[in-house]
Amino acid sequence: MPVISILNQKGGSGKTTIAINLARAYQLQGHSVLLVDSDKQGSSRDWQSADENNPIPLLVLDQVSIDRDIKKVVNKYKYIIVDGSPQATEIAVATIRASNFILIPMQPSPFDIWASSNLIELVKQGMTKNQNLKAGIVLTRLVKNTKIGNEISQIIHDFELPVLKSNIGQRTCYPYSASLGQTIFDTERASSEPVAEINTLANEITQLMS
Ligand SMILES: Nc1ncnc2c1ncn2[C@@H]1O[C@H](COP(=O)(O)OP(=O)(O)OP(=O)(O)O)[C@@H](O)[C@H]1O
Ligand SMILES: [Mg+2]
Repeated sequence: MPVISILNQKGGSGKTTIAINLARAYQLQGHSVLLVDSDKQGSSRDWQSADENNPIPLLVLDQVSIDRDIKKVVNKYKYIIVDGSPQATEIAVATIRASNFILIPMQPSPFDIWASSNLIELVKQGMTKNQNLKAGIVLTRLVKNTKIGNEISQIIHDFELPVLKSNIGQRTCYPYSASLGQTIFDTERASSEPVAEINTLANEITQLMS
């Protein structure tokens, strides 16, 4: 416990990138962490097998029984991070049922935002069924020194879900570290901006769940 799921049916929104880095952030804080790959593409699995010394335990749960499958392991770990799959509505619904927190990565482009609306509805339905479920949108791939326009902020605001204070920048270290089967914690300096932004995100999620 708890189960934090990174979901967005929009492909390429940054789910796997955030899932692996968040998992490593909690692990480096000293917690036991399980990464769950719920995507039939198997990106987290590919990432994990790219480095034989990869320290993150991983379980592939890519069936609609994911909610029941997670229950079987939930007590063994302090944090379970689920890397969501694009499309696959049934798996998303089952994942929402199994989660304590849904993190929705979104790039600040109208097409990406509009394409997230289905998932947002599923999350809201999940929140009405489970009063303890929390959720938040995290903006990803923000280009440094660029402001998000008011129109874009308004479309996101209209989803009526919290937008996290943390956000994730557009940085080459994310694909670079992933290509080695590692995370930014393993390739960047401890004092670097990417390390700070992932730690800030991890801490904000923990606070929002408490
Ligand atoms: N913050 C970032 N900075 C730079 N590149 C990024 C960032 N986040 C993601 N990317 C790159 O964008 C691409 C898509 O990211 P990622 O695979 O994490 O998205 P996804 O939502 O898991 O995709 P899918 O829906 O296919 O599972 C990848 O090539 C990844 O390296
Ligand atoms: Mg992915």
